[in-house]
Amino acid sequence: QQLTNKQIWGLNFVQATLPKRSPFSHKGTHGKGVIIGGSLEMPGSITMAAKAALRSGIGLLTVATVQEAISSIAAQCTEATFHRLAGEHGTIAKQPMDLSGYDVCLIGMGMGRSAQSSTFTKQLLEETELPVVVDADGLNHIKDHLELLSKRKAPTILTPHPGEMATLLKVSVAEVVNHPFQVAKDFAKAYGVYLVLKGTYTIITTPEGKQWVNTTGNAGLAKGGSGDTLAGIIMAMIAQNQSLPAAIANSCFIHGKAAELLVEQSHSSYDLLATDVIEAIPSVIRTFL
Ligand code: APR
Ligand code: MG
Repeated sequence: QQLTNKQIWGLNFVQATLPKRSPFSHKGTHGKGVIIGGSLEMPGSITMAAKAALRSGIGLLTVATVQEAISSIAAQCTEATFHRLAGEHGTIAKQPMDLSGYDVCLIGMGMGRSAQSSTFTKQLLEETELPVVVDADGLNHIKDHLELLSKRKAPTILTPHPGEMATLLKVSVAEVVNHPFQVAKDFAKAYGVYLVLKGTYTIITTPEGKQWVNTTGNAGLAKGGSGDTLAGIIMAMIAQNQSLPAAIANSCFIHGKAAELLVEQSHSSYDLLATDVIEAIPSVIRTFL
């Protein structure tokens, strides 16, 4: 019943805001993004984020990760380029990273929770003036350093599931799921961030506290990898020319619609995989054009 209070991000919104592609565009027109994460033991999540970003219209994509992860990611993401980060025990070590030339950064998936990768994440958020999307382990790295977020001048987009939201707020998961709109609004306003509180219904909140709800999707998305896929789509949409709330909400809509389409046509919520969802993004986007 909470849904009636807030506006649902519907098909009409997507059609009105999704950027039209000019016949005179070139790859620079569609943005250049970098995804930072991955590790020796977790190359899969960043692979899914990268594949999803590539299927969502980004002009150029770089994956920044440790040497041990590059070849397996590269085997699945032919169109991406790579930036090798110094590692320690197969995870990202502390080091400076030059982000000039990129339009947007996504950080967190598969990077693990080492102290070094935590320092790397905090330093990046402090130093970069790009929009940064933070997901998964990246959220864990900032949970005790939320003041970092308030100090940033460029937009920060956080994409927690209720468990991660509870960790950020140091409250119970029950508190988050019982009052999702209030919790999201308080947090987004307090730290000046765009917040994507994921779930069966996903709530998108701006730093000013404006909220929309995405209702596309199904239980086939309740699998590891779905969140990484969404984060990749969000990054790609931000790289392209549309307002931030529209970029985020359109991404949630497309992600959920892809899952719906597959379950209607060829899959079920039992067997649906995040990689299937990535391959269905084209069937969704083409219906908007
Ligand atoms: N209906 C609609 N959408 C759903 C449903 C559902 N029943 N279940 C999940 N989703 C969507 C969410 O809205 C979100 O977009 O799937 C995505 C799940 O994202 P995450 O929870 O971040 O999942 P992911 O990161 O891929 O995998 C779980 O998170 O808890 C950590 O470390 C844990 O590796 C694990 C990871
Ligand atoms: Mg996740």
